[in-house]
Amino acid sequence: MRQRKYLVTAAAGKTGVHTVRHLIEGGHSVRALVHKEDERSEALRKAGAEVVVGDLLEHDDVIRATQGISGAYLCYPVRPGFIQATAYFADAARRAELEVVVNMSQISAREDAKSHAARDHWIAERVLDWSGVPTVHIRPTFFSEWLTFPWVRDPIVKEGKITLPYGNGRHAPISAEDQARAIAAILTQPSTHIGKTYPLYGPVDLSQQEIADAVSHVTGRKVVYSPTSIEAYRKHLETYDLPEFLIQHFIEVAIDYQNGIFAGTNDLIEKITRQAPQTIEAFVAENRSAFEV
Ligand SMILES: NC(=O)c1ccc[n+]([C@@H]2O[C@H](COP(=O)([O-])OP(=O)(O)OC[C@H]3O[C@@H](n4cnc5c(N)ncnc54)[C@H](OP(=O)(O)O)[C@@H]3O)[C@@H](O)[C@H]2O)c1
Repeated sequence: MRQRKYLVTAAAGKTGVHTVRHLIEGGHSVRALVHKEDERSEALRKAGAEVVVGDLLEHDDVIRATQGISGAYLCYPVRPGFIQATAYFADAARRAELEVVVNMSQISAREDAKSHAARDHWIAERVLDWSGVPTVHIRPTFFSEWLTFPWVRDPIVKEGKITLPYGNGRHAPISAEDQARAIAAILTQPSTHIGKTYPLYGPVDLSQQEIADAVSHVTGRKVVYSPTSIEAYRKHLETYDLPEFLIQHFIEVAIDYQNGIFAGTNDLIEKITRQAPQTIEAFVAENRSAFEV
């Protein structure tokens, strides 16, 4: 039997970096695919990963990255090209006879999603299914890290306001680290998970005001939810030099959010990892510096 080694793509990203760490801490060999060499790739190397530089949009890079690998985590940012990257990855996974691919999708992935990124996630799931590669799709709701993105964080820090057009929608924020523990667990013990699609949530389904209350509670500074309009949100996002593909996604998932697509919770993280997921209060406490003026 070949020795097991796991490939983590987007290894310098939010879920990737923790997935690499959890696998290494579990005694496993890890190949970390990074987009470029920098201090993040150096940290992965120091942690014990074999670091390879590559582009998920280059078929040769993906074939090389999967050689000698048993299982892989596929993660691609909200950028154009995910369907192409997934088709290349499925082909490479077949060649390498991978035992499992954990595919990062999202809760809003639907065949009629208006967000191009969410629709691409749905098609990418199908490409993997059609390929016959043993796959597990994970569909998280909004990450806890969302609160620390500049376009969400700045109004919190500067005005004491969460200014999102999320109406009365709700979600149970889930940390990247909790997802990473689940991804590592699925990669290393895949048999009961193959073929499943897992919606992933944090422990508590919250309104935006309840999230604001949690931030207030931990930071000691008053934060309120001040819902904005879709038009004002677009103008706000445009001040952050974000690509239109990302802005289009954020606008459409805001409407999804109002319509309840991101709501709900379940016990999958605890079942898969035998550890309860982090509360939003714990996340804010752990990342307190992100909320300082
Ligand atoms: N954030 C949320 O709330 C949320 C919720 C549900 C699902 N998701 C899903 O999570 C996934 C990743 O999220 P994210 O956008 O926040 O990214 P991320 O995982 O934090 O970072 C993406 C990583 O991929 C690397 N990368 C970019 N283009 C690449 C390419 N062509 N080939 C190889 N590597 C490449 C980037 O490297 P560089 O930085 O060096 O470019 C970066 O390290 C997305 O599929 C998204 O739909 C996110």
